[in-house]
Amino acid sequence: MLYCSNGGCDAHSIRGREAMADKPGTGKYALITGASGGIGEEFARLLAAEGYQLVIVARNEDQLNRVAGILNSKHRATVSPIAMDLSALDAAKSLVQELHTRGFSPDVVINNAGYGICGHTLDTPVEDYLNMLDLNVRTLTELSLNLLPAMLKRKRGGILNVASLAAFVPGPYMSVYHASKAYVLSFTEGLASEYAGTGVTISALCPGYVMTGFQSRASMDEIRFIKMAPKLTAEELVTMAWENFKRGDRVIIPGLSNKFSAFAARHLPHHLVMQVLRRINKPAEEAYIHEQA
Ligand SMILES: NC(=O)c1ccc[n+]([C@@H]2O[C@H](COP(=O)([O-])OP(=O)(O)OC[C@H]3O[C@@H](n4cnc5c(N)ncnc54)[C@H](OP(=O)(O)O)[C@@H]3O)[C@@H](O)[C@H]2O)c1
Repeated sequence: MLYCSNGGCDAHSIRGREAMADKPGTGKYALITGASGGIGEEFARLLAAEGYQLVIVARNEDQLNRVAGILNSKHRATVSPIAMDLSALDAAKSLVQELHTRGFSPDVVINNAGYGICGHTLDTPVEDYLNMLDLNVRTLTELSLNLLPAMLKRKRGGILNVASLAAFVPGPYMSVYHASKAYVLSFTEGLASEYAGTGVTISALCPGYVMTGFQSRASMDEIRFIKMAPKLTAEELVTMAWENFKRGDRVIIPGLSNKFSAFAARHLPHHLVMQVLRRINKPAEEAYIHEQA
């Protein structure tokens, strides 16, 4: 099912704001998922400034139109929003079909749409986790595998999959999210190694804390250490990430403290890392109760 703000949409009624103006091959084309805000919106700004024609995808059509309007007036960029729930089982297939119909073959794909769920794992219905996995894992995989062949044929372009620092370590109170991002990192690195030397760049972006709507959707405000975490703005993150991507880095970890955390997660004794994570991720209220007991 596709998401439509006025309801009643089906898989054949994806709506776009405007059709692509130029024929593929005459310019630079990018698909960015989750571009109605946060990190995805920043990628859209940066790529539009570099002259890319964009297709941007998310559920919130008004926000997509806002982003498209800004980029069109600021950079005269051709930006086509597609309002769609990418956690739907047929979403990737419908999106690829729609791109094909529009004659839009992306040089760059940024699989950014995703979200987290934090708190006592069993407090959240199983269906919510499955929905998150469908978005973070299933759709990302399907889009990557369907859009890669055309890039390989052209011997250029790339896929940037947004993982997380969470990919490097299991996450108590956030175990399904951490596992989903571990998958993204593993899948992307494997693919990158397999298609090395083809002219196509395949990278995993592993941000730490970035100031976006992510934390409130994931209920992370409850984590008591959250205020102390080193933070990047989405603009800082995307500027660094894009440079690293263009350089061909397979795993991109922006920021020194994040690099240190990833290193520590991989090299310190695992039981120690898990103890620290359990303490960090524990919801504030419970941590307080335990301390008082
Ligand atoms: N912010 C952080 O600290 C952080 C750290 C590590 C990794 N990340 C990763 O970075 C990526 C972007 O997150 P963000 O920080 O920019 O969060 P955000 O501000 O919440 O943005 C998430 C984007 O994903 C879209 N999205 C969510 N559910 C969707 C669905 N079912 N179908 C289509 N689009 C959907 C949202 O648009 P709609 O709501 O309009 O659908 C929005 O555009 C995610 O993969 C996240 O896991 C974030």
